[in-house]
Amino acid sequence: MSGSRPADFAVARRLYAGEPLGTRLFVLARRMLAPLPAIAARIPPVGAILDVGCGHGLFSLALASADPNRRIVGIDPSPAKIAAAARAGGAFGNVEFREGVVESIDGESFAAIVVLDVLYLLPEAQKKSLLAACRRLLAPGGTLVLKTNDTHPAWKYFVARTQERLMTGAGLTLGTGELHFRSCAENASLLRASGFAAEIHHLTHWTPYPHTLFVARPT
Ligand SMILES: C[S@@+](CC[C@H](N)C(=O)[O-])C[C@H]1O[C@@H](n2cnc3c(N)ncnc32)[C@H](O)[C@@H]1O
Repeated sequence: MSGSRPADFAVARRLYAGEPLGTRLFVLARRMLAPLPAIAARIPPVGAILDVGCGHGLFSLALASADPNRRIVGIDPSPAKIAAAARAGGAFGNVEFREGVVESIDGESFAAIVVLDVLYLLPEAQKKSLLAACRRLLAPGGTLVLKTNDTHPAWKYFVARTQERLMTGAGLTLGTGELHFRSCAENASLLRASGFAAEIHHLTHWTPYPHTLFVARPT
């Protein structure tokens, strides 16, 4: 649980009421298709949070609305998404959205770092560089919460890959144009090589996606 109340995705979603239909649909789809409340429940209850590849900022804003005293930074390289996130979160003094990549952050420290459905967009070297930056920015005893889609079972992987092909192909998700999904075992190995020990959770959800959550701590 985050702060004194659980992250509130209903409140967070209403913050996008003034945004164009495309953004509202995107945010609704994220809320429906990913087990965001179950992921939010794994975030440690105190300390600053960094949301890497925060997109339109829904997850950050759900955490921010649950605990006004908690500092949250969302960062994403998409200028359009960060602009929408900043508009939606304008009323919150505890959340800040930045355009950029985690590798550019220096001199800050976070109790928790969240990376939700981002790694599949990045080739191997970029995955490693993102995780190295997370390792560097985590406070001692901090937690990395990493969500990916597994490549098993094959039919669920097919659904996830097809959807993401459509999203990147249509330019709705920023990336290099190629997809770089990895199996659960490969991501676990990448985390170990990046200096993390992870618990693995295969999240059950009504959607046909192989949602996998790594709750990792620096070794
Ligand atoms: C599928 S969206 C997930 C957004 C958000 N984390 C969520 O769960 O709703 C993937 C996000 O990764 C961002 N992204 C692309 N390249 C990135 C990079 N090198 N570092 C961080 N984020 C990146 C995209 O702009 C996009 O917003």
